[in-house]
Amino acid sequence: MPKPATIAIDGPVAVGKSVIGSLLAQRLGYRFLDTGAMYRALTWLALELGVDLEDEKALEELALGASIELAAEGVMVGGRDVSLDIRREEVERGVSLVAKVGGVRRALVAKQRQMAQGGQVVVAGRDIGTVVLPHAELKLYLVASAEERARRRHLELVQRGQEANYEQVLAELKRRDKIDSERVLAPLQPAPDAKVIDTDELNIEQVLAEIMGIIGGC
Ligand code: CDP
Repeated sequence: MPKPATIAIDGPVAVGKSVIGSLLAQRLGYRFLDTGAMYRALTWLALELGVDLEDEKALEELALGASIELAAEGVMVGGRDVSLDIRREEVERGVSLVAKVGGVRRALVAKQRQMAQGGQVVVAGRDIGTVVLPHAELKLYLVASAEERARRRHLELVQRGQEANYEQVLAELKRRDKIDSERVLAPLQPAPDAKVIDTDELNIEQVLAEIMGIIGGC
């Protein structure tokens, strides 16, 4: 059986989409697109330019004009590498507000579809299987409890040398999940034909093994 040309990975905050997606892409010799990084990059740019995160029109214009690239070396905005900046706390706090704006989503979804053209690609996000690439050959939806996801994100922040408090990370993650799930446009939910993988008890290698098993049987 041929491998699925386009693989969508969706799921809530800090469930491991980026790390699993990039390792899976490496293993398959595919490209990896982290669409969350694009919403984060736009949020970073808005904050940098002093754009009000409640100003939907301004955010839409920014999204239409911004040069956001997912390059091999990192996330680039107007030629500047912002890979570290987009992980900062103020971006984390603002990103779900920016991501619920219709005009922002239209602009970024159009870019994402363009980037995914040609296949041989793993695309991670919230609405990839439902909105961006509804015809993806394989759709995965990762889940884990809020506590387990907070544990993972907390560890990630500490390893990066950032100050982090577990309870705060948990509260922030629940806040962002709520906005992402309750928004009118492209709310976080599994596509009807997605394979749901509960990663609570699984480490990265085990999740990858499960996905490779699914691909073997595609
Ligand atoms: O890494 P983490 O799970 O914390 O989030 P992310 O994947 O980097 O995405 C950051 C935010 O962007 C999410 O909380 C969503 O609000 C938004 N997002 C979205 O709306 N649609 C996507 N396809 C990807 C991200």
